[in-house]
Amino acid sequence: MISSEKKIGDSKIISTELVLPHHTNQLGNLLGGQLMHWIDICAALASGKHSQRVCVTASVDRIDFHQAIKLGNAVTLYASVNRVFKTSMEVGVKVFAQSFKEGIKVHSNTAYLTFVAVDEAGNPVKTIQAIPETEEEKRRYDEALKRREHRLQTRSKKD
Ligand SMILES: CC(C)(COP(=O)(O)OP(=O)(O)OC[C@H]1O[C@@H](n2cnc3c(N)ncnc32)[C@H](O)[C@@H]1OP(=O)(O)O)[C@@H](O)C(=O)NCCC(=O)NCCS
Repeated sequence: MISSEKKIGDSKIISTELVLPHHTNQLGNLLGGQLMHWIDICAALASGKHSQRVCVTASVDRIDFHQAIKLGNAVTLYASVNRVFKTSMEVGVKVFAQSFKEGIKVHSNTAYLTFVAVDEAGNPVKTIQAIPETEEEKRRYDEALKRREHRLQTRSKKD
């Protein structure tokens, strides 16, 4: 059963990864590309859970790497659909790196991605509206509209 609207809280995804040697560079730090892969997967799960459709990544906003994430850290990703437009939706992913040994947990990255719900042929389809309930969800919902306007103004066009 597919409804016309769903609560944002119902499609949140939390995913935890362990940084292993094959995820790191020569300094023992998590590779940026590996983190981007985990962010993409976590966001894809949230968009798919919300829309009950296959969703494709349309764009990824800038991701800043403020500090290195070390071998052996646990990386926890929290993904949430911030707002649905027509066929597209903005998903926010917050990343935390944690050392259990040192008892430290830091917010390492935030990323915003746009996913588009598609049919079996890959054509965009109108999707389920997302209803914000908490103050934080309402703030993210409002901010997502401003980010979308900027994103669409600055996107690169097809050849
Ligand atoms: C993303 C894709 C489905 C958009 O299809 P399209 O024919 O360009 O469709 P439209 O121009 O009608 O745009 C559809 C929606 O995507 C949004 N969109 C398109 N390009 C975008 C971009 N670069 N950034 C943000 N949103 C974008 C549009 O704003 C529109 O949103 P809305 O319906 O909510 O208003 C299509 O370009 C595609 O399939 N790209 C490849 C996706 C892919 O392979 N991803 C990696 C693997 S998952």
